[in-house]
Amino acid sequence: MFTLKSFAAVAVVLGLAQAAPSSAAVPRDITLLLLCNDANLGDCLDFQTEIDLCKNIPDGFDNSVSSVNTFSDFKLCNFYNNPDCNEDAGSITLGGVQNTLSAEFDDNFSSVKCLRNK
Ligand SMILES: *[C@@H]1O[C@H](CO)[C@@H](O)[C@H](O)[C@H]1NC(C)=O
Repeated sequence: MFTLKSFAAVAVVLGLAQAAPSSAAVPRDITLLLLCNDANLGDCLDFQTEIDLCKNIPDGFDNSVSSVNTFSDFKLCNFYNNPDCNEDAGSITLGGVQNTLSAEFDDNFSSVKCLRNK
């Protein structure tokens, strides 16, 4: 009986030791964007965010972005005129290089959320 119990205890410990790294490795889908104050990717910020995470655009670029690059036509991000990815003042989905933005969005983005590829 004693040895059986010991074996069970060791198995539990080993199981925990193996489970710990995988449960700690929560995937973080970090993604990089260029947010640029000028058209044609001029005066840009390397902006790091995560897929499905809303981020407000920082001072110096908030309400100033005139072009963007998501680095892939397949990497789409929603850009919002309001902070906190609030859709009420308008939003647009963009991917790849956008050298100019329409009047509704030029110098007006305040937040961004990138989408998971479907
Ligand atoms: C710019 O964004 C604001 C919200 O921050 C919105 O009310 C306004 O309509 C937008 N401007 C244009 C020209 O669409």
